[in-house]
Amino acid sequence: MSTVTPPSRLHELSADEMAIYRQLDPEQLPKHIAIIMDGNGRWAGQRRLQRFFGHQQGAESVQYVVETASRIDLPWLTLYAFSLENNLRRPETEVSFLMRLLRTYLVGNVKRMNDNNVRIAYIGRIKDLPQEVQETMQWAADQTARNTGTTLTLALNYGARVEIVDAVRDALAKIAAEQSGPLPLQELLAKLSEQHVSQALYTAHMPDPDLVIRTSGEMRISNFLLWQIAYAEIYVTERFWPDFRGLHLLQAIREYQCRERRFGGLGNPPKAKPAEPERVLAQ
Ligand code: FPP
Repeated sequence: MSTVTPPSRLHELSADEMAIYRQLDPEQLPKHIAIIMDGNGRWAGQRRLQRFFGHQQGAESVQYVVETASRIDLPWLTLYAFSLENNLRRPETEVSFLMRLLRTYLVGNVKRMNDNNVRIAYIGRIKDLPQEVQETMQWAADQTARNTGTTLTLALNYGARVEIVDAVRDALAKIAAEQSGPLPLQELLAKLSEQHVSQALYTAHMPDPDLVIRTSGEMRISNFLLWQIAYAEIYVTERFWPDFRGLHLLQAIREYQCRERRFGGLGNPPKAKPAEPERVLAQ
């Protein structure tokens, strides 16, 4: 008998989503899912469309997935929307289109976020984004700050290695500031622990992701949350992001529940058996 209170908005799931949800163990739902959204360009290419259309459709997928996440009471959903490398490796026209799309998305969806009790947050080098983009981002965060359901974190201008380097610097500076006087470097370094670094990351206030999803079949982590996903399960689907929906999020959770999470130890027995999981490429 489950001791978990069922989410109050389950009736808003589609029939297909509900069929998958019923196969899940409500006591073993992930608390934090992180998604590498990939394949917008290939989705467009398959349809002989320009890449921009893939990104536009990808923004629609974001909203579908966020709303399903909120209906199942997922506490944390983090989406890799724009990497530090994107800025350098994409044509300027595409980067500025993505920036405009982000603003349009936020302005157009804040009401729906509020209707779904979703709070919007960000991680990444936000201060390096164009001023007007930062202003819209701040506005959307303020408008949704009082929501208590899913926290949607958009990783923007994000790179995990830079995050870790910044975190180590900040952690050492904090340790130094806590001492009564200057410490020799060796002693300062000896005081640095994993906990200090975790608490200096952008994600200090969140649990680490339990599940990372990557769309479009690529078997890479692409500098996303490298520290935080040390023990996460990884699920890769061939589906392109613009075709990804809440149903596919639930399928990924079903597969996650079949995994034996070991955390470096002996682990626990698997909780459920999948009906027909989407092709799983990475375990
Ligand atoms: C990868 O597609 C995806 C991105 C560049 C980031 C995701 C961006 C969106 C989903 C657009 C909207 C986002 C928000 C938050 C409104 P790709 O261009 O790398 O695809 P490809 O590998 O097939 O070329």
